[in-house]
Formats: sequence, C-alpha cells, structure tokens
Amino acid sequence: MSQTLPTAYRSTMVGTLRREDAGAEVRLAGWVHRRRDLGGLVFVDLRDRSGRIQLSFGPESTPPEVLDRARRLSAEDVVAVRGVVRERPAASVNPELPTGEVEVQVSALDVLAAAETPPIPVAASPGDELPAEELRLRYRYLDLRRDDLQRALALRHRALQVVRAHLSREGFYEIETPMLTRRTPEGARDYLVPSRVHPGEFYALPQSPQIYKQLLMVAGYDRYFQIARCLRDEDLRADRQPEFTQIDAEMSFVSEEDVFGVGERLMAALWREVLGVELELPFPRLTYREAIERYGTDKPDLRFGMEFLDVTDVLREADFRIFQETRGTGLRIRGIRAPGGAALSRKELDQLTDIAKAAGAAGALWVRRGDDGLAGQFAKALDGALAERFLARTGLEVGDLFVVVVGRYRLAPVVPESHEGTTDAHRLGGAEVALDALRRHLGDRLGLRDPSRHAWAWVTEFPLFEWDVEANRLVAAHHPFTSPLPQDVPVLERYTAEGPPSPEAARALFDEGLRSRAYDAVYNGNEMASGSIRIHDQALQRHVFRAIGLSEEEARAKFGFLLEAFRYGPPPHGGFAFGFDRLVMLLAGASSLRDVIAFPKTTAARALFEGAPSPVEARDLRELHIAVLDEKGS
Ligand code: AMO
Repeated sequence: MSQTLPTAYRSTMVGTLRREDAGAEVRLAGWVHRRRDLGGLVFVDLRDRSGRIQLSFGPESTPPEVLDRARRLSAEDVVAVRGVVRERPAASVNPELPTGEVEVQVSALDVLAAAETPPIPVAASPGDELPAEELRLRYRYLDLRRDDLQRALALRHRALQVVRAHLSREGFYEIETPMLTRRTPEGARDYLVPSRVHPGEFYALPQSPQIYKQLLMVAGYDRYFQIARCLRDEDLRADRQPEFTQIDAEMSFVSEEDVFGVGERLMAALWREVLGVELELPFPRLTYREAIERYGTDKPDLRFGMEFLDVTDVLREADFRIFQETRGTGLRIRGIRAPGGAALSRKELDQLTDIAKAAGAAGALWVRRGDDGLAGQFAKALDGALAERFLARTGLEVGDLFVVVVGRYRLAPVVPESHEGTTDAHRLGGAEVALDALRRHLGDRLGLRDPSRHAWAWVTEFPLFEWDVEANRLVAAHHPFTSPLPQDVPVLERYTAEGPPSPEAARALFDEGLRSRAYDAVYNGNEMASGSIRIHDQALQRHVFRAIGLSEEEARAKFGFLLEAFRYGPPPHGGFAFGFDRLVMLLAGASSLRDVIAFPKTTAARALFEGAPSPVEARDLRELHIAVLDEKGS
C-alpha cells in the first residue's frame, strides 16, 4: 500500500481508517454506496476496493455549496473528497464495519463521474435477495462491485500467489504453452479457430496443456507448472465452465507418492494461507475399487462414515419377495446405517424412495430400530434368528435407520449361479449411484457434512479403459498416455500382442478390468484434481494404442509429435491438474463457479455482458474460407 499511495486523487484507501487516525486530514476517492439525509446532516457511505467509510456533511464542517452537492449525490456516483477523520460518538459506532468507529467530516467534494440509476443494486446487505443471475451477468461490472464478488476475487488473487510461490519453492518452473494448437482427441469437443492464411485448416484451443507438459519433461525441464486456461466445448453444469483454469503440473523421475506429496503440500499451503486451516498430511489414499465398493462413487465425501454394507446373503433369506428375487441373479442388496436416522419423519422416510428413483434405482427400503425392536418396510420379514443376524451384520443400534437399495452394483463380485450370460453386469452396475445419493442426503440431513471439516483423499488405480456404449468400443478412461498398473501389463500384452484386438476381444479386455496409474484428488465429495503416471516406454504405448483400436498410422496422425519425441529419451514422468476455479469456489464457500470467475459464461455457454458468441459478417467469413450452413444443414 505504502508504495501505491498517495495518488493524484487520494492519500489513503477508505477501508484502512481506524480510531488512531482521528484528527488526520485525508483525501479519499471512490463510489457512493449509500446516502442518507438527516435534516441538516448528510451521511454518505463511500466505497473503494478496501471497504467503506462513513462521510459526514454538516453545516459546521462543510461549506454550504458542498453540502448542497452532497444532497444531490446518488448511488454509484464517483467522488473525491477531502476531510478530517473523527471518532464517532459511542452511540453511533457501527460494529459491522472495520471502519465503524470513525467517520470523515468532509470539507471538499468533487463529483468525478455521475452514475445513472444502476439496473442492479450494488449495495445489497447480506441476506438480501439478489436480482436474477441473467441480469447480474448482463451487468457484470456492477455485480462485480458487490462485497461477495470483491471478496471472492481477492481470495482468488491470494490463492494464485500462494500457488506460484509454493511451487516455485518446490523447484517448479512456470512455463506457458500455446493457446493456438493442434486438434487432439480428448474427453470433450475442441473449440476450433479457422486459419486465414491456410484455407480449410484449423487450430484448436487447448483442452489442457497435457501434451506440451509431457514434451517439457522430454525436454529436460524436470518440474513444470502453469496456471493454465483450458477450453472445452462440453455440456455445462454448475461445476463446469467452457473456459476454466487449472493448476497444471508435471514432474520427472517420480512415482505416485512423489506426485501426491507435491499435491498435498500445495493444498496445505493454500488452506493454511487462505483459510488459516492446517490440513492433516498425508491425505488418506484409497483405490478406485475401494471407493466404489464402500461409497458407490469415485469422489466420496469422507467427512463421515456410513459405508455401504452388503447384506445380500442375510436378507435373501427373508420372507420378502424383492429380496428373494435376487437369488440366481447378479442383483445385490446393499445398504447404509444412518446413526440417529430413526428419528426421521414418515414424510422424510418416503422421500428416500424418491431420491433413489431419481438416481435410477427402482426404490429404497428401510427399517429402523426403536426401543421395542425393528420397525419399517421389511421388519416383519425378519423373524428372530434372521433379525439377530441382520443386527449383527449391520451393527444397527437403537435410534438408527438402515436403508437398502436392491440392484446391480458396479464391481460387485460375479455370482457363480448367474444366469445373466454377460459379465458386464458386474462391472457397469448402477444401484451404487442411488445408494450414494441416499448416503449424501442422509449425511446432510443428519448434519454429518460439516463445512468446517476438510476431508481430502487420493483415489488411485482408476480403470485403464472404459467401454463407449454408443460406439461399442474400448476407449482410454483418462487419456491414452496413462500408464497401466505394472501388475496388469501382462494381460494387456496378451490381448494386443498381434495388433488391435477384434471387437469381441476388446470387450473381453474391458471385462478384465485393467487398472491404471491414474488418480484423482477428492475433497469433501468433490473431484478437485486428476493426473497420472504416464507411459514413457514406446512398446507399452503401442499396446495401449492397439487396445483402443488405433493403428500405428492413426496414432501417428493424432499424437505424432508426442510419439516422435518419445523416441528420443523420455524420462519417467507424471503429474496432475487441479481445477483452480473449483478450489477457489470451495475456499470462498461459494456455491457456483460463476461466483469466483470475473467474467463467466452462463450454463448455455453464453457471455451475456459482451454478447458472445455472435454472428460474423459474410465478408469476414469469406476471408476465413468459411461458409455457414443453415439449420437444415444446407
Ligand atoms: P481433467 O480433465 O480431469 O484432467 O481436469 C483436471 C481438473 O480440472 C477441473 N475441471 C474443470 N473445472 C471447471 N470446468 C470444467 N469444465 C472442468 N473440467 C475439468 C476438475 C478436474 O479434476 N490433463 C489432465 C490432467 C493430467 O493428467 O495431468 C486433465 O486435464 O477439477
């Protein structure tokens, strides 16, 4: 501050004034936040980035023409004032404002710019209902004046500086990579940019700097990071934006544990310096399989337990049709014990079925344990001995609720008596999604998802491949440079020894459930980062390309520049990318990415303030060698 002040318009920022400044003459500049006229006196709250201060205009301290001008001030006018800091009388101290013990008695006032009545109010108090988000995005520069957004962007700035300082300390170089790059097949669609000088050719905007960061490892830069802008033409959700920011990093001569160490020390630095919270290191690690089996999701909220319990063998014995019908099928009966859940009202219990249905299951069934035993939907079907077994298995205590979802669970063991014929039933599942939704709902309802807790974890050994149901083919689950788990390499080699496997063999390879060295960082049930140890061995890379049906020529056409580089001595390497907007959103306690991005897009991928995307004149298109088809495609 000391080096930036005073400026031509001000001697200090308004938010810094305190009781100790009483008596000082100051020059201030900023926006009129509010104005109140009290008889002969006028009070104006003046706002700049640092906060607010009360200005007072009264006949004793203010010349009449200044007082007159003050009376005509309206919200959001830009003014410069001169005055003296005064302690406020005890009765008018405002404990809500850091400057609330003082005010500035104004002697001179300049209106630097008058403002029209703003279409959205800036001076909202906490708890006030905000105007529709559409309108706020249309007038983003006004919305950005609000306290919430000012705080969020200040926090974002601080977080960026912490990341830069921390990673530099750990020996990382910040290196920028191109925005105009080559189209690469990744998860989402690319945004394309036509080339004017090369008719019919296009650049692509990067979905991530993935290939460049691997090239930097080949080039011997050892440790790279970048605050990277990524662009993906994908369907948007509250936690996705078409352009977003990653903390992207890559390092050489590392294994998973080295990468995890870097990631968790970085998060610890952020939480410490931004929130003043000391994270517990190391973060727990759990494999993808464990995560799915215990929580039904690869991003479990580990602030609370409520793990999935398989009660198929017990409940199948019950005299209850839905349970008995699981015999001889791949269906499982799994549930969660909600401590204290017996207190839920009938209406809330009915709601559990709706939640399960919305998540794609046929429904949910519950029992609760009261002082006089079990009650609920399948309680009657549990007679003496079976009830004992059920209680022993679930650990259900008096006051607890047990909710089950019957269905096909991902990664559930294959049942020997299966009549299904296909093996994918045990891999693809679906019921775990419903039980996960119930677990999260009950966690909220029972107050177990405490925002002051910070449950980080690394989820490891993600599947190497996924099955693309629409195209009926095998695809890389993360990206094709992700290393398989060493133990699983022989299986991969068996299927790809001769060349790309047949469609049937590819399917069988998928069913082998090969694991990779890909991992995610999860925080309180959110996916925060992804990464992997990459393949640096050409022969192994060839097997992966074959598995996903890429011939050598196709692989060369798509990833040629990386593959060529790998012929000249690539070091073993790996890395990660944290979603920076998501990090800031959670650090700021915001509920939407749009609340931590200065100029975000809507969920329809529009920029409302600048009005993008927009049509382009035919003449400009011709120059780019582009013709636009109508909706019918002609
Ligand atoms: P991935 O695609 O998983 O990995 O992205 C990494 C992290 O970026 C965040 N993220 C997003 N944030 C906002 N809007 C989006 N549309 C969006 N998409 C992703 C998430 C995610 O965990 N190159 C690899 C990383 C690597 O292998 O090193 C990559 O980009 O928090």
